[in-house]
Amino acid sequence: MDPANKAKLMDGQPLARRVLAGAIAKVERLRAGSGAVPTLATVLVGDDPASAMYVRMKRKRCEEAGIKSLVLELPRDSTTEQLVGEVRKLAADPSVHGIIVQHPIPTPIDKRAAFETIPLSKDVDGVSSAALGRIILGMPAFGACTPVGIMRLLREYHVELDGVHAVVLGRSPILGRPMASLLINAHATVTLCHSRSRALPSIVRGADVLIAAVGKARFVQGGWVKVGAVVVDAGYNEGNVGDVDFDAVIEPASLITPVPGGVGPMTIATLIEHTVGAAALQLGVEV
Ligand SMILES: NC(=O)c1ccc[n+]([C@@H]2O[C@H](COP(=O)([O-])OP(=O)(O)OC[C@H]3O[C@@H](n4cnc5c(N)ncnc54)[C@H](OP(=O)(O)O)[C@@H]3O)[C@@H](O)[C@H]2O)c1
Repeated sequence: MDPANKAKLMDGQPLARRVLAGAIAKVERLRAGSGAVPTLATVLVGDDPASAMYVRMKRKRCEEAGIKSLVLELPRDSTTEQLVGEVRKLAADPSVHGIIVQHPIPTPIDKRAAFETIPLSKDVDGVSSAALGRIILGMPAFGACTPVGIMRLLREYHVELDGVHAVVLGRSPILGRPMASLLINAHATVTLCHSRSRALPSIVRGADVLIAAVGKARFVQGGWVKVGAVVVDAGYNEGNVGDVDFDAVIEPASLITPVPGGVGPMTIATLIEHTVGAAALQLGVEV
């Protein structure tokens, strides 16, 4: 890569390593203070290979951080009642500090019912309406890990958010919506786009900061991005490809996240940090 372009990369890996190192130190203090091991439970429904890969990756990072990772696998044809029942058991188990219900969740399961069963104190990926509501209002809660990780990356690279125009592509409850809220709370002027948005390229051209979270490979094209824009690619599509046409967008962008190695490592590091934070709060130990 051209050295001038290399300087534009927002690399998530060194920051994620630092967040993990901080979490490891907190795990040690927590164990010393309470004798307890922070524990993350993940419920995986069905046999989606990408989900299985994410769960393996999270498990590996948990082990590295000294966090106990429990994975509960349910068959694809599980009912909403079965899933909710399992989440309820984890919610009541004092040795479990964080709960993740891995998405996508096969239809016709009511995923919202499962998410709402996770108590706020154990909702380490901010999927419940209680957590999202608190994030919107700027109140303390564990927000969805991907947008929280993105905010941290933007801070690391000293990206100005106050008063700038931020465009978020995608309105999912785990990514686009909390992302827009965090940006609003950081005083950006936010446009939130989705599949019904008209004249998307012209909206994107007005972005000082662009967050792409649509789930479509190389969706954002070079001609859509204004010179000097900061571009964050949250997309992760087959073949390790993001939602941004990286080779075309790196030219106009002033900063851009690579895929892989940008947002992904920050998501997992944030999950680890949230799990340790949840355990500390539940055990009443200051870390
Ligand atoms: N790096 C990470 O750690 C991480 C974590 C989570 C997700 N991801 C990735 O982020 C991406 C988004 O994930 P998600 O869970 O938010 O996906 P999602 O639930 O499928 O939501 C996609 C959003 O994109 C919008 N959209 C779809 N086509 C569009 C179009 N042509 N124009 C404008 N908007 C469009 C949809 O609009 P409607 O609402 O109108 O349907 C929806 O709001 C995926 O690539 C996923 O793999 C990465």
